[in-house]
Amino acid sequence: MSIFINEQEKTFHLTNDKISYIFRVMENKQLEHIYYGSKIVFSDSVSRLVERSFRPVSVVEFDNDLTTCLDSIKQEFPSSGGGDFREAAIDVTFENGSHILELEYNSYKTAKGKTKLPGMPATFANQDECETLTIFMKDELSGLEVELNYTIFNTLPVITRSVRLHNNGNENITIERLLSASVDIPDQKYDVIHLSGLWGRERHFYRSPAEPGVKAVYSTRGASSHHHNPFIALAHPEATENHGNVYSMNLVYSGNFLAQVDVDNYYVNRLMIGIHPNRFQWKLKPHGEFYSPEAVLVFSDKGLNGMSHAYHDLYNNHLINPKWAHKARPVVMNNWEGTYLDFTEDKIISIAETASELGVELFVLDDGWFGKRDLDNSSLGDWYVNKEKLPNGIDGLAKKVNDLGMEFGLWFEPEMSNSDSHIMKEHPEWIIGTPGRFRKPARFQYVLDYGNPEVVEHIFEMMDDILSNANISYVKWDMNRNISEAYSAYLDSKSQGELMHRYILGVYTLYDKLLERHPNLLIESCASGGGRFDPGMLYYAPQTWTSDDSDAIERLKIQYGTSMVYPVSSIGAHVSAVPNHQVGRITPLDTRANVAFFGVFGYELDPNKLTEEEMQEIKEQIKYYKRNRELLLFGEFTRLASPFEENETMWMVKTKDKEQAIVAWFQVLSIPNDGYRRVRVPGLDPSALYEIEENGLQYTGSELENIGIVLTPPIRGELGFDDTAIMNKRDFDSKIFTLRKVK
Ligand code: DGJ
Repeated sequence: MSIFINEQEKTFHLTNDKISYIFRVMENKQLEHIYYGSKIVFSDSVSRLVERSFRPVSVVEFDNDLTTCLDSIKQEFPSSGGGDFREAAIDVTFENGSHILELEYNSYKTAKGKTKLPGMPATFANQDECETLTIFMKDELSGLEVELNYTIFNTLPVITRSVRLHNNGNENITIERLLSASVDIPDQKYDVIHLSGLWGRERHFYRSPAEPGVKAVYSTRGASSHHHNPFIALAHPEATENHGNVYSMNLVYSGNFLAQVDVDNYYVNRLMIGIHPNRFQWKLKPHGEFYSPEAVLVFSDKGLNGMSHAYHDLYNNHLINPKWAHKARPVVMNNWEGTYLDFTEDKIISIAETASELGVELFVLDDGWFGKRDLDNSSLGDWYVNKEKLPNGIDGLAKKVNDLGMEFGLWFEPEMSNSDSHIMKEHPEWIIGTPGRFRKPARFQYVLDYGNPEVVEHIFEMMDDILSNANISYVKWDMNRNISEAYSAYLDSKSQGELMHRYILGVYTLYDKLLERHPNLLIESCASGGGRFDPGMLYYAPQTWTSDDSDAIERLKIQYGTSMVYPVSSIGAHVSAVPNHQVGRITPLDTRANVAFFGVFGYELDPNKLTEEEMQEIKEQIKYYKRNRELLLFGEFTRLASPFEENETMWMVKTKDKEQAIVAWFQVLSIPNDGYRRVRVPGLDPSALYEIEENGLQYTGSELENIGIVLTPPIRGELGFDDTAIMNKRDFDSKIFTLRKVK
């Protein structure tokens, strides 16, 4: 049993051996949050844990009670305007223009397992892996019913939350704001952590003290965005990578989101996440229902690595399609940076031939194969092959690639169109844009109205035709612009506030339909690199193209930040040519591979331009990855040193049984006459002996943890002067240590 209920006091305690989450029904029948954090031994009664204090100038719940004021009570699901003046989780408008909700507790139910969210991605689990508590609340006057769903996973420090609204009244209710989760974390000062950036430098790590007021990260772009990730955390100021309390939330959603902390003046931190309320409005007719996306709440008392381990575990076992979740992914050759749009069939075949010689397993043809796409200003939406470039069609090309012993993959950008395309000429009403207003282009393209089911069906048929008539085992699903001038010709004037949410539901519908028709398809999601790297996408596409920035040194920060939440198995990472196309940097080939090994590995270059020496090195890299990919993709990933703090970055993966580990060390700039350097490897078996594949040296687990692998061994210079060590020094250096338990 993981949910304990005190029927008399109406107290709910969700717990497992890691966490406790407690709330109760107050005298006014609203829900009061009591505790969230490390597992506690709880005596079943909360009366002595309830905090109240006289708060001058506050609105109170009862005439004769000076202390029950919602503005300073920790709440479970705060609504707007009724005495709690902090940020609300729910806000609605009734037909008479009022918006006050009095959500009163009605009943509860518990069930083993968890149910699917209609039309939306969510975590899943077997009956014996989790338990769900549903709290039924009702606003008597309007008939609005609110169901709060909490699922606690048995072995993980994870609770998922979602909300269902049901209009059981006779009038329309407009939902103005509905967040998926809100928790009032006990009064203490915390640091706020989030992952933010831009194109080419997505998901950088930010940490700053939480202060009274609101700190928000968000997207109003129609996609979860390069700019902020739907993730927020509160860390105790002393919490580090390995120690201390961290509370976090991640939203299983790919559209507009809001993740924020509202710190009140008593230092209570209201942590919340959900659909962004900006221009969101959903009309709930009588008997209508609305589901919020799912929020994932992870609490760690083992610092940020503890938090990440929980997310990685949850997503690998309860979010990513089980068909792929534990399956080694093929080594890719993608032609984008090798050719961009400028290719012929012969050029592609010659790249594929060399790729196959190198040991590549999946050849991916990127943008440029369809319509008359020679430049990026035409043909999106015209998903039929350009026979001038590919005279034997996609099926002919796929066959040739298959004959070379590789699988074949293809790029699509299903949500877009160019003005120079048949789809836009024939169906101008299918494009998002506001009547009478200039429809602004981005990369010469416009967004199709996925809120309109006809559009989704049309694109499905075109894609299905291509996928059914050629042997295609992988799709790269790209999305290269955000939504501006949002307005849908399909929706009536009163329903325009539904567009952004309907849009992303349409995207999910297309994913569902394609995967139902082609269940073995491996999809990699992409949005100009990492502009839609979120758990919603991961539910359908087990891997995401992490960033268009393929420079190894830039990738240290991007992959380090991404790893806070997302597992290595979801991080698309390719070796590209130098000078790097995004930053012009020249990094060694081994460092480029050493970074990309910690992801779904591949190459993105023209292999026919490689020297013989580079070819040999790449063959060895591919062999190494194939030998070790289960460990690299699915081992427990731990961050050891941060690129945001130091010249060095270190991270590792290890098997749960501690038999094997791979440790990586990276350095940005070389330092003259530097101090001694070691790589400490925590968490192995202290008394066991481990051998390093790369140099044959053996260390005990406790030596590895406490002393570390020595990076500066003694070197004897024959001339009495050690010039070899200096000759071997380089910027952008890296080393990989592959450890196996020998005794
Ligand atoms: C943006 C993607 O991130 C790239 O990898 C590539 O697929 C281009 N789009 C193609 O237009």
